[in-house]
Amino acid sequence: MAIQLGIIGGGFVAAFHVRASEAVRGLEIAALTSRTPPLGIAEEVTSKRLGDGVVYDSIEEMVENVDVVALFSPNFARIPAMEAIARAVEGGASLKALVCEKPLGRNMAEARRILQLAEQIGVPTSYFENQIHLPSLIAARTQLGAVADAMGPLGLARAAEEHAGPHNAWFWDPTQQGGGVLSDMGCHSIAVGWYMLTPVGKPADYLVPEKVTAQVGLLKWGQPKWRQELKDNFGVDYTKTPAEDFATGTVTFRDPETQKVSLAQFTVSWMYDKQGLRLLIDGLGPGYAMEVNSLRSPLELFIGDAAAAGVADAEVALEKATASQGLLTVQPDEPALYGYVDEQRDLVEAIEDGRPPLLDWSYGLEIVRLTMAAYMSAEQGRTVDLTDPSTLEELETYVPLIQQGRGGEVLDLVD
Ligand SMILES: NC(=O)c1ccc[n+]([C@@H]2O[C@H](COP(=O)([O-])OP(=O)(O)OC[C@H]3O[C@@H](n4cnc5c(N)ncnc54)[C@H](O)[C@@H]3O)[C@@H](O)[C@H]2O)c1
Repeated sequence: MAIQLGIIGGGFVAAFHVRASEAVRGLEIAALTSRTPPLGIAEEVTSKRLGDGVVYDSIEEMVENVDVVALFSPNFARIPAMEAIARAVEGGASLKALVCEKPLGRNMAEARRILQLAEQIGVPTSYFENQIHLPSLIAARTQLGAVADAMGPLGLARAAEEHAGPHNAWFWDPTQQGGGVLSDMGCHSIAVGWYMLTPVGKPADYLVPEKVTAQVGLLKWGQPKWRQELKDNFGVDYTKTPAEDFATGTVTFRDPETQKVSLAQFTVSWMYDKQGLRLLIDGLGPGYAMEVNSLRSPLELFIGDAAAAGVADAEVALEKATASQGLLTVQPDEPALYGYVDEQRDLVEAIEDGRPPLLDWSYGLEIVRLTMAAYMSAEQGRTVDLTDPSTLEELETYVPLIQQGRGGEVLDLVD
């Protein structure tokens, strides 16, 4: 019998995962629950025969009827959801695994509490970082494995994720989401850089992160015109609680066996006013290189001004697309392209084979640590040394000023 998945949350990412599940064997979308009943997604599930898609009123009730629970609700809702799952399991429900979308928590204290509840529940955990499962990244690593053995590993990885800004109000509110783009998307690009540099066959946390330097900026959405747009569209006031719309930095890693040092650069922005979401990933080794650009597609559409009367929803072409005329890049299978299909396959195989998934929640916690170190570096204008025990201790309770709603102290607003 296929693994029965229950989803908490009925928004963007839940819908993406439902689409991805069409290409995954051994997994069915058994149930959903959310703040408001996710009837539209449930209808999609049943009409495409992806599972029973039963909508439950509460997390507790759903947990009793599924094998695996996925946290696809907003970042601020993680702990209450985990507490509800723990109650259901204490009451006799039996699970095979827990899944959490990025980020595991908004800061270290929160991530530790989530991990502690997972340990109490006592089942394997899978941290969903889809970009590590990008088929093009996996193909590059497979192809270059022998080259790296002969020539030496990649010395530099660069990972960038950029689009024009999130689709829902809570993402823009740093106190709810955890920050701005560094919290939202830095976790992806930091993880990708770490994984690219990791020798094939070694665990995802094999390389030891030693130093983090980062910078954040509010380059577009702090300007009066764009601030007003945020207020009108999402009720978020960046004069009071601004968050960064750009972040960049470098993480230094050391190979614990060879002592070799490598660098991962990350860049993320919510001010990328081009076709839509772009993942740009490249790696440089001695005598070889790799590059992934998610905006390269074999399909281009052109819709001129004369034809623009017929344009539809821009996002039909590409996630976060903001234009529906001109030269459009179209990606017909985004769930596969971005790695959602393969991360679900990894979950299914892990459960069926009784092995750990590629990434677990302890790994998710390490990504939170690196993201917090990046905020600390940007806030304090220094390199954060992760080999220093007192810095590690400081990170345990650190909450970035931006996350506290005090971004005005570190970000420039234009009047
Ligand atoms: N892997 C990725 O690239 C990716 C992309 C988008 C979002 N995400 C992550 O997925 C999660 C959800 O993001 P989204 O884009 O779907 O957000 P969203 O705003 O589109 O949807 C959130 C859903 O959760 C529901 N919800 C709100 N409060 C809730 C609560 N207290 N309990 C249960 N449900 C609640 C909302 O009604 C909505 O259905 C976030 O953690 C986000 O970081 C990951």
